[in-house]
Amino acid sequence: MNDALLSSKNMCWCTPPDFFAELDREFHFELDPASTDKSAKCAKHFTPDDDGLKQDWGGYCVFCNPPYGRAIADWVRKGYEESRKPGTTVVMLIPSRTDTAYFHDWIFGKASEVRFLRGRLKFTDEDGNGEDAAPFPSAVIVWRSPESTGREFATWHI
Ligand SMILES: C[S@@+](CC[C@H](N)C(=O)[O-])C[C@H]1O[C@@H](n2cnc3c(N)ncnc32)[C@H](O)[C@@H]1O
Repeated sequence: MNDALLSSKNMCWCTPPDFFAELDREFHFELDPASTDKSAKCAKHFTPDDDGLKQDWGGYCVFCNPPYGRAIADWVRKGYEESRKPGTTVVMLIPSRTDTAYFHDWIFGKASEVRFLRGRLKFTDEDGNGEDAAPFPSAVIVWRSPESTGREFATWHI
């Protein structure tokens, strides 16, 4: 796989529909803050024009598959910070890069659950096309609001 294919500029890394459906059955998502109108996973969603990083996610059950460029650290931090608001759950699908500062700063010791995915997801473009497995591992991070207790680290088999 060449650099162009690895670049987030050339790939939406849209969430595989079956994978999203499984999570949605569990969480019943209400807000997708990183999307386009076409790729949104929830009726309530934010696009780059809204800038989901500047919006209030409080009170929602949020599914966020953020852009995988340099700003991913801002999204991970935002996910954690928004989850501190009452009645807010944030579920974030990100590359499993456990050596990054944002993993250490906002996930380790702070997330309610980290689900390391066994195998690689097959992300799609905005039209739902995608056949190849991702060139990186993924993890699902769950931050529950402070009224929830308990932490759990899990591995998912896909
Ligand atoms: C990895 S894709 C996920 C798309 C879709 N939500 C999904 O789960 O399949 C990230 C999306 O975030 C959008 N995006 C980029 N910057 C954004 C911003 N500041 N606010 C909201 N959405 C943004 C991109 O256009 C892209 O559609």
